[in-house]
Amino acid sequence: MSGFTFSSTGTTCDGVDPAAIAAAEGTPLYVYSAALIVARYRALDAALGAHPHRVHYALKANSTLGLVRLLRSAGSAADANSGGEIAVALRAGVHPRDIVFTGVGKTVAELEYAVSIGVGAINAESGGELDRIDRIATARGVRVRVALRINPGVEADSHPGIVTGGPGHKFGVPIEEAGAVCRAAAGRKGLDLVGVHAHVGSQLTTLDAVAATASTITRFAQELRADGVALEHVDLGGGLGISYDGNPALAVTDYARTLVDAVAPTGLTLLVEPGRWIVGPAGVLVAAVVDVKPQRNGRYFVVLDAGMSELMRPALYGAKHRLERLTVRSGSDVTCDVVGPICETTDVIRLGQSMPLPEVGDLLLVRDAGAYGSAMASNYNRRALPPEVLVEGGAWRVIRRRQTVDDLLACES
Ligand SMILES: Cc1ncc(COP(=O)(O)O)c(C=O)c1O
Repeated sequence: MSGFTFSSTGTTCDGVDPAAIAAAEGTPLYVYSAALIVARYRALDAALGAHPHRVHYALKANSTLGLVRLLRSAGSAADANSGGEIAVALRAGVHPRDIVFTGVGKTVAELEYAVSIGVGAINAESGGELDRIDRIATARGVRVRVALRINPGVEADSHPGIVTGGPGHKFGVPIEEAGAVCRAAAGRKGLDLVGVHAHVGSQLTTLDAVAATASTITRFAQELRADGVALEHVDLGGGLGISYDGNPALAVTDYARTLVDAVAPTGLTLLVEPGRWIVGPAGVLVAAVVDVKPQRNGRYFVVLDAGMSELMRPALYGAKHRLERLTVRSGSDVTCDVVGPICETTDVIRLGQSMPLPEVGDLLLVRDAGAYGSAMASNYNRRALPPEVLVEGGAWRVIRRRQTVDDLLACES
């Protein structure tokens, strides 16, 4: 696949030098490879093979308009997690029917919006939410396509902050109660129960939870059909993990085969909602060193102009992203704690990085930052959101400009 090439003699993104982009746009800065995003979307789509399926890219991983538009042109449908993400998907040209609306706490206003445009399915989280959708539908004299999100009680092997399908997690309806909720929904005037849905976590790196979820949900779907519910699809969510450390990750072909093997005997359409796997490795964060200072223990603090306001994952999950040096320095390696400029001790990018001591102004690149990077960025410490650049066809363009002070204050009086 195309994308980034990292070497001691020079790093490129599809032939373009990220340092040259940084020279023009400043740092911090996100850079994405259009070719890699499309290639990864196509690889997953191809791995799902001939069984009827639809890939609904999960906008929560990265909802920058230019990327959603790119994926839409490649043929992707969308998974939106809020009214805002639905609006972005529409702006990107996604047809309302190609949107599934997920989310653990949808407001009535968001449900009204989703109903008014006619999304492909609302993945309802509870019996109460189905009641609210039914009320909206009957008031409008329409039927709304819904799927029930089921919590299969599967403990996935991932960071505790991003597993969602085990007992005690707030997501969906426990599998033991789902039959009654679905049968009640199937009798409602305003609802068409077209699917069942589950998403048991993100950054999954083994097949166990994927296989257990796929078989539990598929069996459940078959039971519903046997009771006369005219289901159309099984939506098995997202979650396919990527390698942050360079060791082999779960193969997309094995992941896809596990899902298809479970769903194929039913003949139901398979929906998936991948986010991280498609865009994660296709984006990097480029940052400059703003200070270097020795610690008493022989290590150094290397302070960047990017931190948890640009990339929250290390602070939030203890995530370890690989770093590359865009400015080459000779000298023996020292141990560097690479940190951000935010007033929080948790604001780190990578602790214990071994490298020749950098100097102020040197550029570092944080790998695999395409997912849950810019999407989770904030204005904390009144920092402007960084620009985002898409490299496509050997050229690059800004798909989101850097915020200005006026942008930061635009909503205030
Ligand atoms: C319901 C749902 N679908 C899809 C995703 C995307 O997950 P991932 O980026 O791990 O593929 C998430 C993320 O947590 C989610 O909550």
